[in-house]
Amino acid sequence: MPTADDRTGGAAYRPPIDLGTDRAHPARIYDVFLGGKTNYAADRAMADAVAEKMPTVKTAAVANRQFVLRAVRHLAEEAGIRQFLDIGTGIPTSPNLHEAAQEIAPEARVVYVDNDPIVLAHSRALHVSNPAGRTTYLQADFTDPDTILDAPELHDTIDLTQPVALTMGLLLHWIDPKDEPHAVVRRLVAALPLGSYLMLSVFARELAGRSASLHDDFAAEGTALRSLGRDETLAFFDGTELVEPGLVPPHRWRPDTVVTDIGTPAGGGLDDTAAPVWAGVAVKRAVTVPSPRADDSRRD
Ligand SMILES: C[S@@+](CC[C@H](N)C(=O)[O-])C[C@H]1O[C@@H](n2cnc3c(N)ncnc32)[C@H](O)[C@@H]1O
Repeated sequence: MPTADDRTGGAAYRPPIDLGTDRAHPARIYDVFLGGKTNYAADRAMADAVAEKMPTVKTAAVANRQFVLRAVRHLAEEAGIRQFLDIGTGIPTSPNLHEAAQEIAPEARVVYVDNDPIVLAHSRALHVSNPAGRTTYLQADFTDPDTILDAPELHDTIDLTQPVALTMGLLLHWIDPKDEPHAVVRRLVAALPLGSYLMLSVFARELAGRSASLHDDFAAEGTALRSLGRDETLAFFDGTELVEPGLVPPHRWRPDTVVTDIGTPAGGGLDDTAAPVWAGVAVKRAVTVPSPRADDSRRD
């Protein structure tokens, strides 16, 4: 039976990784747009095809990344969150999610999850925690939430009886509807205690314009990309309460604290179609039943 160390590819055992470099991968295409170097010819060719239909795609990628970092800082600072479960992590890009959280709370703990082996390869080297906190990487698929929730690595790192922020930046548009992404998100949120948060961003159908047809380019590569409508995106937040400003393009989510250390500033001044993404953060609260007012009971 493999140990947790085997599954995380820890120091004791490091199986060889097949990176599938002959085919474009979402994590590596995103890396091209963020100006990274962890990508291959097939990824760069697909990135060019995407840029042809969405000329602002680099701005959109940076705007999304900045949203993720602002939201994590908000969650650590204003909401007091110390545990993060990040699914669809992507190739490490500094600052990484744990760096943003640990800048506010050095003791913050992060479980990173992705299904792409190249993320595993780089995560080993780059998702290194501050000594006061902890990070773990789990290679698993969003569509198999029980494997994620039952993983020993997860339980070694975060405590599911305490609030957790479930973060899924630019993940859900890669999930085939037949894999029931809404049911999976419900399952994941149900496993978290009250006071937990859900943060997500997706490719926005209403803002996509000509780039909505990108699903054809990805289908040819065997990857199911689609854009998601606003209502379909809001449905992921069922049972939670969106915090201000609600579901908006990423550069409109609390833009006052724009992070500028990863590239082009993407403040509130951007045209929304330049960053066709729906982004939001919500809290899982107890359902409160209004109690009768004292003067109501006096009337009875
Ligand atoms: C565009 S990157 C997003 C990176 C980061 N979350 C962000 O918002 O900056 C999307 C990531 O989702 C991952 N992904 C796609 N489908 C997945 C699945 N079914 N399970 C887990 N990860 C998946 C890809 O491998 C990729 O690393």
